[in-house]
Amino acid sequence: MSKRFYITTAIDYVNGQPHLGHAYEKVIADVISRGRRSLGQDVFFLTGLDEHGQKVQQAAQAEGKDPQSYCDKLAADWKAFAARLSLTNDDFIRTTDARHKRVVQACLAKVNADGHVYKKTYEGFYSAKEETFLTEKDRLPDGTFDPSYGEVAVLKEENYFFKLTEQQQWLIDYIEANPTFIQPDYRRNEVLGFLKNNTLEDLCISRPVARLNWGIPLPFDPGYVTYVWFDALVNYITVPAAHGDSVVTAIVGAPPSVEGTPESLWPADLHVIGKDIVKFHAVYWPIMLKALGLPLPKQLLVHGWWQKDGAKISKSTGNIIDPIAVINEWGLDAFRFYVLRELDIGPDGNWTDAGFKSRYASELANGLGNLVNRSLSMLKRYRNGVVPVRSDELSADAEKVIAETKSFLEQNELQKALQSIWSLVTRANQYVDRTAPFKLAKDPAQAQRLDEVLYNLTETCRILAVLIWPYLPETAAKLNAQLGLPGEPNKFSAAVWGGLIAGHTIGEPAALFPRKDG
Ligand code: MSP
Repeated sequence: MSKRFYITTAIDYVNGQPHLGHAYEKVIADVISRGRRSLGQDVFFLTGLDEHGQKVQQAAQAEGKDPQSYCDKLAADWKAFAARLSLTNDDFIRTTDARHKRVVQACLAKVNADGHVYKKTYEGFYSAKEETFLTEKDRLPDGTFDPSYGEVAVLKEENYFFKLTEQQQWLIDYIEANPTFIQPDYRRNEVLGFLKNNTLEDLCISRPVARLNWGIPLPFDPGYVTYVWFDALVNYITVPAAHGDSVVTAIVGAPPSVEGTPESLWPADLHVIGKDIVKFHAVYWPIMLKALGLPLPKQLLVHGWWQKDGAKISKSTGNIIDPIAVINEWGLDAFRFYVLRELDIGPDGNWTDAGFKSRYASELANGLGNLVNRSLSMLKRYRNGVVPVRSDELSADAEKVIAETKSFLEQNELQKALQSIWSLVTRANQYVDRTAPFKLAKDPAQAQRLDEVLYNLTETCRILAVLIWPYLPETAAKLNAQLGLPGEPNKFSAAVWGGLIAGHTIGEPAALFPRKDG
């Protein structure tokens, strides 16, 4: 059993419906997964839901529901959402799963037995909204707390704490010695800056049942439930444990029954997360894993946040994008294309409807759509849909883009790969304009030249289907069918010039991206 490339997303809070930010992250992880599978890697892709904690309990209360049935109802919506995005996830974790509770409790029992946990009375500031304790350092210059914390109250409470203070130096050394552990670099530098300029406070990992009961009970004190982040982060090892990964089960024990055939997953190769949750993944999670005796994940890939029309996405102000509405109107691939083409993984982005429509019109409809439609329609009209003898005029351009795309996919440079692929679309559209096959078709003496042009265009379309598949799976499949080729173009190894054989008959051309006027 060889180790699979294990990629995860953040698990979303189920206190509402999915929005653009959630969709964006899941699409990033899906394109990376598909890209690597196409390149021949064995990938395991995990996503799911974070169902415990105060936010969820309050959301359930607001609807007059008990938290479990509230979560069950919403989990169905979020799973349907994952399917609507065509995510190719291999498992879907819910933190209310029995398999997860078992692993969280095993982790807590182990760190407690190994002396990493202690109990103390804490008196200090507490933000109920963010479910977090605050210190003097969190105060703004005017003495107040950031409005994002909501109402901050003084709280006196006995709780369990996970020791962090002695862990700071090895973590700094580790991050310095492993420059790719946190990407992009500026996020890594932020974490290093934070660790070097602050002393870590021990992490409160419990909440008294009297105050919050929607959580996983501490195995060593039933008067408490587990702090939501200690619960949530563990999801990344719950799934390996449930699938019989021996690295993890050696620490947390074997599951009552292994799901499927035993897998080798841990350590994770990639945690895809947003910029707001870097501290949890880059500081708390490595320290938790080290305390458990487990290897650290290989990389955190940190994406930025979307705004809409220059303002924060917010349910309360109504400044939201409903990804499902966009997909229903424009198609799944248009949505996937826009978010990855518009925004590199790292900086923040700004969604505008005008920007979305403009990319749809210029890059999808007039770019790829027009190229495919012209190329295949001309082959149909002038050669009855039969592929002429091979010609290599565009082969060097295609091979260059194939090599670039491969290399960018391997480096998770999703926007750069798309830019490279679209340089081939542009090149091929220019080739149509320059060679003017519609004119060649009128002159019988140019029959051979027309054959050459048609071969180059049709073969470029075939290669494009392979290159776009990780990003635009529906379009790639349609294009393959229009080319009269079987199955999905999901093997990167097929992206080699000359695959189309003379005499092959293509299928029926049809518009890939219907033009929408107005
Ligand atoms: N439940 C925690 C994560 C636990 S992971 C062990 C959480 N959930 S969340 O629902 O608030 O956010 C889930 C992911 O969506 C995070 O990575 C977050 O950064 C991302 N996004 C939420 N809003 C976003 C935008 N507006 N734009 C881009 N991504 C955003 O945090």
